[in-house]
Amino acid sequence: MPQDAKPQDTPHNAVLINGRAYPVTDHAYDVLVVGAGGSGLRAVVGCSEAGLRTACISKVFPTRSHTVAAQGGIAAALGNMGPDDWRWHMYDTVKGSDWLGDQDAIEYLCRNAPEAVYELEHWGVPFSRTDDGKILQRAFGGMTMDFGKGPAKRTCAAADRTGHAMLHTMYGQALKQSAEFFIEYFAIDLIMDDEGRCRGVVALNMADGTIHRFRAHQTILATGGYGRAYFSCTSAHICTGDGNAMVLRAGLPLQDMEFVQFHPTGVYGAGVLITEGARGEGGYLRNSEGEKFMERYAPSAKDLASRDVVSRAITIEIREGRGHGPDKDYMHLHLDHLDEDMLAERLPGITDLARIFGGVDVRKEPIPIIPTCHYNMGGIPTNMHGEVIAPRGDDKDAIVPGLMALGEAACVSVHGANRLGSNSLIDLVVFGRAAAMRCAEVVGKGTAIPELPKGLGEAAIERLDRLRYADGSTPTADLRLAMQKTMQRDCSVFRTEEVLKEGVKGIKQVWDDAADLKVTDRSLVWNTDLIETLEFDNLIAQAAVTVQGALARQESRGAHAREDFPKRDDADWMKHTLSYADYGTHLVKLDFRPVHTYTLSNEVAYIEPKERVY
Ligand code: FUM
Repeated sequence: MPQDAKPQDTPHNAVLINGRAYPVTDHAYDVLVVGAGGSGLRAVVGCSEAGLRTACISKVFPTRSHTVAAQGGIAAALGNMGPDDWRWHMYDTVKGSDWLGDQDAIEYLCRNAPEAVYELEHWGVPFSRTDDGKILQRAFGGMTMDFGKGPAKRTCAAADRTGHAMLHTMYGQALKQSAEFFIEYFAIDLIMDDEGRCRGVVALNMADGTIHRFRAHQTILATGGYGRAYFSCTSAHICTGDGNAMVLRAGLPLQDMEFVQFHPTGVYGAGVLITEGARGEGGYLRNSEGEKFMERYAPSAKDLASRDVVSRAITIEIREGRGHGPDKDYMHLHLDHLDEDMLAERLPGITDLARIFGGVDVRKEPIPIIPTCHYNMGGIPTNMHGEVIAPRGDDKDAIVPGLMALGEAACVSVHGANRLGSNSLIDLVVFGRAAAMRCAEVVGKGTAIPELPKGLGEAAIERLDRLRYADGSTPTADLRLAMQKTMQRDCSVFRTEEVLKEGVKGIKQVWDDAADLKVTDRSLVWNTDLIETLEFDNLIAQAAVTVQGALARQESRGAHAREDFPKRDDADWMKHTLSYADYGTHLVKLDFRPVHTYTLSNEVAYIEPKERVY
């Protein structure tokens, strides 16, 4: 038995794959949460508080989850720095989503946001404070007062380390509960039964190489985004969308995968994030002609227009020869006019990052920046309770029993075609809590967790074994690089049919080439070669559905900017894309599902689509 196995574990059963015995340890819980970032931990706390036997498995130590890297803040209409209203937040989020967001879910998010932030405050998140002791709020792109009439300070901040503060506080809260953590366990695959119910997950304990079969009434995927499908991204190396890929392998769809957000200000060359909060505190962008060019692209919001708008503006400036540097391929972000004490108090993290990764002292020089892949609006389709959706016949909102998803892995969809900065952290905690409440409703406390039918879960071990003994001649790193470069080149800020067709071809080629994969290390203990291979195998399917969805969508909406279809086309394309991946042929099949064009309550009216002007 591995050291961290719990007493209720049943003895090992060996599973025989290709003549090799894999001993398996079985575990049973009411709720199994995969991933220990902000949404996963919020669900863990809620489920434990509800008296459900809860386990959380995570491939990294919880406080290393990517939520730790979130900088600028968490959006909620607290009104600490001026008037605010959750309805204004809702309006901004719908507009930011370019009318692809589901308005019932957006209402739920914005209405519940203030309470969620106060809960974090009470748990101990060390928010920055106003002089009178309230939570400090700063301006962020696309956040306005009174339905677009001027910038709103709505983003609650703990300096520029908000995610770090939240994650550490929430892990502390989770430890207070009776939840059990399985740390540095890599989830290999879902366990799906013949009726289409999710029964749990098979995982590898990376430290000792043992295999674990977790069965649960509810399995919650809180596994994050897949930024690492791109060459340059703000995402950590762990962001490989493992849950998304598990869903594809189960024959279930992902939603709106073509919508990939580029953050306007990644450090040139390194990709490291420089928070939008820097512009919220008064920073601005300038081209090589000394022009504050955002005034031309967004006369009202300027540098605080939504991210898709700013990223496109920077890309156009660079293309038209007004970039900085010998290759004229980056822009300058100026903070050098700002008060040094303010920089030290509110932006200490990016001051360090700019020095370490950009080689500049922000008090004296501009930061070289470039739009960098930052966030996946698409993911596992869910309803606002976190339940995974997979249309069945005419029922476009049919749920997959036993399976839930949260956070960047999920597509609720509150961010639609483009997420507003600071709406990600609030999404994590609002829907993490909602999912826990749903679990408390649907899981009978103390009810038996049925045994798995014989053989269930073995497919996951077969996958592990196949990749472990891959004996071709192409190392995983080569395939990963080819995928990342293809996505960066062919599925980026601006897109055309010609380039996307190259992307579809290129990604299929990389996937086909994976038949020649070479894994050198055959062991199961701390085998990073094997883990990176499992992650690549996850990423490549997501790259395929992303680029295929982008080719299919013949319009421009939010982060999806087609130069050959420059207008938004609500008549034909105000719908969610569903994508299915065929692991045999490496081909992608697409379907669609309507956007929810209704609100949750009659306290707010449906916000009619109109042109987005900032
Ligand atoms: O710019 C930032 O601080 C990023 C925030 C976000 O993506 O929500």
